[in-house]
Amino acid sequence: MKILITGGAGFIGSHVVRLFVTKYPNYTIHNLDKLTYAGNLANLTDIENKPNYKFVKGDIVDAAFINDLFNKEKYNAVIHLAAESHVDRSITNPLEFVMTNVIGTVNLLNAAKELYKNDPTKFTKFYHVSTDEVYGALGETGMFTEETSYDPHSPYSASKASSDHFVRAYHDTYGLPVVISNCSNNYGPNHFPEKLIPLCIHNIKMNKPLPIYGKGENVRDWLFVEDHATAIDTVYHKAKLGSTYNIGGHNEWTNIDVIRLLCKVMDKKLGRPEGTNEKLITFVKDRAGHDLRYAIDATKLKNDLGWVPSVTFEQGLDRTVDWYLNNSEWLDNVTSGNYTHYYEEQYTKR
Ligand code: NAD
Ligand code: DAU
Repeated sequence: MKILITGGAGFIGSHVVRLFVTKYPNYTIHNLDKLTYAGNLANLTDIENKPNYKFVKGDIVDAAFINDLFNKEKYNAVIHLAAESHVDRSITNPLEFVMTNVIGTVNLLNAAKELYKNDPTKFTKFYHVSTDEVYGALGETGMFTEETSYDPHSPYSASKASSDHFVRAYHDTYGLPVVISNCSNNYGPNHFPEKLIPLCIHNIKMNKPLPIYGKGENVRDWLFVEDHATAIDTVYHKAKLGSTYNIGGHNEWTNIDVIRLLCKVMDKKLGRPEGTNEKLITFVKDRAGHDLRYAIDATKLKNDLGWVPSVTFEQGLDRTVDWYLNNSEWLDNVTSGNYTHYYEEQYTKR
């Protein structure tokens, strides 16, 4: 079984690569990543020399490259995570999101379709990793189920919704064996410090303001990244072809409550008097089109496939803060101006 994981140098992808490489020594795992600002090979140093792992640098937007790679490697399956993933960046540069998230996904689908057409017994699965943001925003009540209509609001979520539609279209039109999962907000080690939780961990450490959009009343449903990885493992191995699963931890928090909890946890860990970090909270201009609330109903995943999260938010947040405090070098590197250049050089040297 030779599996291509795309976006494996990113936040979630690196946890998925690690899980598959270590749990399934009989699988060969190729990690295809362009190494954008969000891709970081330092996320994978502990497994980079495993015999069943190989890193492939490349861009999913480059159709000729993708077709050559699939022809050469004859993958048996794809787990597709590569994407532009930050909502704020999609507001300033929507086209980049269309290119990677839509065109890149269609390039992979085309290459997979050819392998499937040539030998349907050998190409077994195209697993597309998607987001709950495709469903739009909830009011005070209700939850997203797999039947909720798509209603994306940001350029990011519109691009992810589009890619989901293409994946389903390739199943219905060409019979491509696909599965899709839509997950809620992840947090944990290796999260790039442009997203709310790692940004605030970094800023608390540096005694810098914690920017909270609007009044901090928006609600997100947080899942520990290692739990997302085990859910992907479960869906990959157990889901019926053509099906969709929502993934989430039934763990809704307003942004302001998340940051207050984080401040408390970090007061203790940094030996600062209680209440010190909360003083850093600063309310700033709201995000354009800011979705009010996300909440995932993951009942189908629990009932059909038996998956449940393994940690509470408090436990996960504690582990996350410890990871960032113990990995200052990682954080310093990705927040320094030399970051992209540095890792490009590291890779070229190998
Ligand atoms: P990330 O931004 O941390 O990582 C994305 C990875 O994709 C990076 O390693 C980057 O280098 C790579 N990449 C980007 N463009 C590429 C291209 N053109 N060709 C090849 N590689 C490219 O993202 P993440 O937060 O780990 O998200 C991974 C996937 O999970 C995405 O598809 C995202 O939509 C989805 N998702 C994320 C969350 C979340 O909370 N972060 C929740 C649900 C779903
Ligand atoms: O729901 C899943 C999605 O979660 C994923 O598909 C996306 O890839 C991922 O980035 C994440 O999107 P969000 O926009 O919810 O995550 P972010 O960390 O950017 O923001 C979380 C909340 O915090 C959101 O309501 C906006 C707010 N926020 C964010 C930042 C960066 C702030 O208040 N201040 C900030 O500085």
